[in-house]
Amino acid sequence: MLHASVSHHPRQCGFDSKELDRLKTYPGMQTPGDVLLARRKPGFIMSPVIVMNPMKLCYLDNNATTRVAPEVVEAMLPFLREDWGNPSSLYFFGNKLAKPIDEARDRVATLVGADPKEVIFTSCGTESNNSAIRSALRIHPEKRHIITSAVEHSAVLNVCQDLEKQGYRVTYLPVDNQGRLDPAELQGALQPDTALVTLMLANNETGVLFPLAELASICHHHSVLIHTDAVQVPGKLPLNAAQMGIDFLSLSAHKLHAPKGIGLLYARRKAPFHPFLLGGHQERGRRGGTENVAGMVAFGCAAELALSRLSEENSRVRALRDRLESTILNTLPGTQLNGATEPRLPNTTNIRFDGIESEALLLMFDQLGICASSGSACTTGSLEPSHVLSAMGLTPAAARSSIRFSLSIDNTEDDVDYVLQHLPGLVQKLRAFSPARPPSESRPRFEEKPATINLPAAHPR
Ligand SMILES: Cc1ncc(COP(=O)(O)O)c(C=O)c1O
Repeated sequence: MLHASVSHHPRQCGFDSKELDRLKTYPGMQTPGDVLLARRKPGFIMSPVIVMNPMKLCYLDNNATTRVAPEVVEAMLPFLREDWGNPSSLYFFGNKLAKPIDEARDRVATLVGADPKEVIFTSCGTESNNSAIRSALRIHPEKRHIITSAVEHSAVLNVCQDLEKQGYRVTYLPVDNQGRLDPAELQGALQPDTALVTLMLANNETGVLFPLAELASICHHHSVLIHTDAVQVPGKLPLNAAQMGIDFLSLSAHKLHAPKGIGLLYARRKAPFHPFLLGGHQERGRRGGTENVAGMVAFGCAAELALSRLSEENSRVRALRDRLESTILNTLPGTQLNGATEPRLPNTTNIRFDGIESEALLLMFDQLGICASSGSACTTGSLEPSHVLSAMGLTPAAARSSIRFSLSIDNTEDDVDYVLQHLPGLVQKLRAFSPARPPSESRPRFEEKPATINLPAAHPR
């Protein structure tokens, strides 16, 4: 079944229903991705309408979240249906849950190369980041300085900005134009009252990795605690907290085919820690709150699956990503990779399409069932360019023309083919509408079926 839908910003939706019904009867409304022009209401200017395919899902946004693996759903269901007691209870129906929790803890500890006692279950990556940062400040009240980077996730940046309002000083380390961090920058930023260094392991927008082992050794040399937001890494690359030598590490289960609502904080055995959530004595007194048993079991199962599939993610998924990336870069003029090629997550590519607004392309993708993302934040109608790409030196226009594709074990060659089949035509259409069309651009170099515009009309303004 094909649907007509609006290819512009959702707020501009609101086509006259009679007009949409009329469009649906047009013989040209056959191919998903075809663009038509229609009047939103009688007397209004013409606007683009794109034929969509609501049955298709081509999910290439796995850094945002992942599909819960069927094995994970199966593993957690008994703890929602039958074994739903409170693990802190004195009676067997509750306290028998200690065993599955311990097993889950063992599994996630193996995933991060930690001792199970070093694992604190939390509700998400954001909570883990907050816990690590606020703990360091609580442990060292006399220390008023934090070091982070300009390209962290908002789950770190917003905490740091909030702390600045409370009088703390924060140094935001710069990255180069490839998104890389020079350890010498950290060396130069350390101060006598630095309480914590918090630097991500892999960037969620570009996939670029920071040299955490080297950064950790600098911190230890100066007796400064170091935390890493490693949320994007497990299941994609091997992870070993002990070998990296970091004190704290955050993870989030929904990035590795487990449900949302469960995360972890690794706290090195000898690292001083003060709980963020005070309450009951759960998690050995380090995080209050009745345990999310089903979530923990799910995380444990997903951790085991992730380890067993790591080599596949690293080879098959990498090959899919590389084919998608190289075909776009080699065949579509006016495209460039954002960020270093290596060291990088094997599933992520961030590509700039000169002369287009990424939000417009994402909305056209949406009509075709393709899910990808841009780092732009849509706030009060204006598009803020990605802070990550801006920190890498991209102009606001270049940052706003960038798209992130992030793959997972669930993706197939067909997904890559589907994107490559539609992308050139969509870029061509958007560039035709764009006043900022790159001068070098004439037409895509490969064959593409032209858009079917069935209604003779003026161009939208
Ligand atoms: C690098 C990074 N850190 C933290 C988070 C936040 O994780 P959560 O959604 O579990 O709070 C994300 C989620 O996108 C992320 O990519």
